[in-house]
Amino acid sequence: MATQQTVLLVGGTGRTGRRVLEQLLGRGVSVRAIVRSAEKLPAGVVEDPNLTVVEADLLSLSDEDLQRHLRGCDAVISCLGHVASFKGIFGPPRDLVTRATTRLCRGIQALQPAKPVKFILMGSVSVNHPGGLDTRRGLFEKAVVWMLRRVVPPAKDNQQAASFLHDSVGTADPFAQWVAVRPDSLLEGDVSEYTLHEGLVSSVFAPDSTAMANVAHFMCELAVDAEAWDAWKGKLPVIVNAGPRL
Ligand SMILES: NC(=O)c1ccc[n+]([C@@H]2O[C@H](COP(=O)([O-])OP(=O)(O)OC[C@H]3O[C@@H](n4cnc5c(N)ncnc54)[C@H](OP(=O)(O)O)[C@@H]3O)[C@@H](O)[C@H]2O)c1
Repeated sequence: MATQQTVLLVGGTGRTGRRVLEQLLGRGVSVRAIVRSAEKLPAGVVEDPNLTVVEADLLSLSDEDLQRHLRGCDAVISCLGHVASFKGIFGPPRDLVTRATTRLCRGIQALQPAKPVKFILMGSVSVNHPGGLDTRRGLFEKAVVWMLRRVVPPAKDNQQAASFLHDSVGTADPFAQWVAVRPDSLLEGDVSEYTLHEGLVSSVFAPDSTAMANVAHFMCELAVDAEAWDAWKGKLPVIVNAGPRL
């Protein structure tokens, strides 16, 4: 019988994060969820014996406590994001995703696990591949995205988090491996067919769409499926719904 996987989830009360939580539990994965308020978790999951809820502010946890929650995990999934309000977008912490990503990866490294832990980050197509591997954008579009990062703090934050993974963790770390998933405009809806791409496939002026259920499905596949992990580790896959644009 296969060993039960353990995943640490942050952002599990969010729109995508709650879908990740439900899908992980549906697959029989053991989940540790660090949330600010357990009341916001989706109904029906709190009684699941495979779920452990830690009610805490991720950025204020001591290093020791964070490492305690990370110990024994096979994967970490981050669906953190800035809440869609003026305060959430322009207030502190403007570098929420970067700080959380850095803390979690440094925590994994400090534990020196025998087998590398997978770190799976939810980003966005506003994130450019830090290695300059995205060729899709023309000069004008690049200028618009550059402006966006200066005006909208979450766009800059998501870019810095992905750059941290690419530049500081890299692809040869013995303890932490990573994938930064890049969805396009998020949609409601059930799991459906989706496609995965090494680089950008559409322009910010004619965006594609990605069901949050599909983002969750792909993140779960990465967490539990060795083949999916080997195919995408150290990369920034773009995920979009299959079929015609809505
Ligand atoms: N919106 C889009 O169209 C779109 C498209 C592509 C990618 N993305 C990116 O995808 C990610 C997730 O998006 P989403 O819409 O699923 O997220 P969301 O519904 O806004 O959820 C955000 C999550 O982050 C948590 N959070 C916010 N501020 C926090 C803080 N200071 N400390 C700890 N936790 C905090 C929230 O916890 P609480 O419940 O406690 O507030 C919640 O669990 C984001 O990084 C976003 O930029 C978004």
